[in-house]
Amino acid sequence: MSEDNTRLQYSDMILDRFMGTEWSEQERVETKALDLHALPYMPLDMKISEKALSKIIEVINSIDSKNFFYFCEAKDFPVNMEKLTFYGPGDYEKFWRDTKNAVDIENFESSQNFNEYKWQIDIPELKDFVESIPCNRLYMVESRNSQPGGKTPVHIDKEKMFHGMYNRIWIPLNWPDGNMFKITGLGDVHIEPGRPIVLNGNKFPHATMNKGSERRLALIVSADTHCDGFTDLLSRSHKKFLGKM
Ligand SMILES: [Fe+2]
Repeated sequence: MSEDNTRLQYSDMILDRFMGTEWSEQERVETKALDLHALPYMPLDMKISEKALSKIIEVINSIDSKNFFYFCEAKDFPVNMEKLTFYGPGDYEKFWRDTKNAVDIENFESSQNFNEYKWQIDIPELKDFVESIPCNRLYMVESRNSQPGGKTPVHIDKEKMFHGMYNRIWIPLNWPDGNMFKITGLGDVHIEPGRPIVLNGNKFPHATMNKGSERRLALIVSADTHCDGFTDLLSRSHKKFLGKM
């Protein structure tokens, strides 16, 4: 058996164990007592309206499946994942490598030609919502869909230009039965379709699984969120959602 197959089987075994893990109330209380920026994740006090959400889902579902692609060079790569750029530069693979290699935001920005950044797929309801997220500069809005049978092995992110709560923003658009998203210390991530979450993925191992029969739709927004507006949003969110996590 190849080394790759052995590694995959091992990571499947870890994923099954991880998905079955229950964190004790004591562990959860201790985790939630951490400072805001040291928490595993934070749901944000903003949400796509029901009406806009159904329109966004309708448009995404109407996109021919051949337009979705898969690209990831992470060691423990996700299975059955679909990507698609809504906003960003034309060359996804270059963007992926650039954000992975940049040591910080300034280093990343100095390597980019922002004239190439634009809405590649125009969904007005999505554009309006993304533009309401406080940030210094928007980099990318992309699909991170999980087809039935999809999974992301237990991993920690290796981000260098995103830290703590100033991280990429993940937005679930639907949550069909059979989907799971767990993070160390707290267990099930608080999911509401249309509500963004920032994940402290560099510090806390996390994983997802789609054991259902429907496609799970999600977005990732990458942006420089080091601004007062986002900091205020985080502290408002902390007060509102800590009790629900
Ligand atoms: Fe991750």
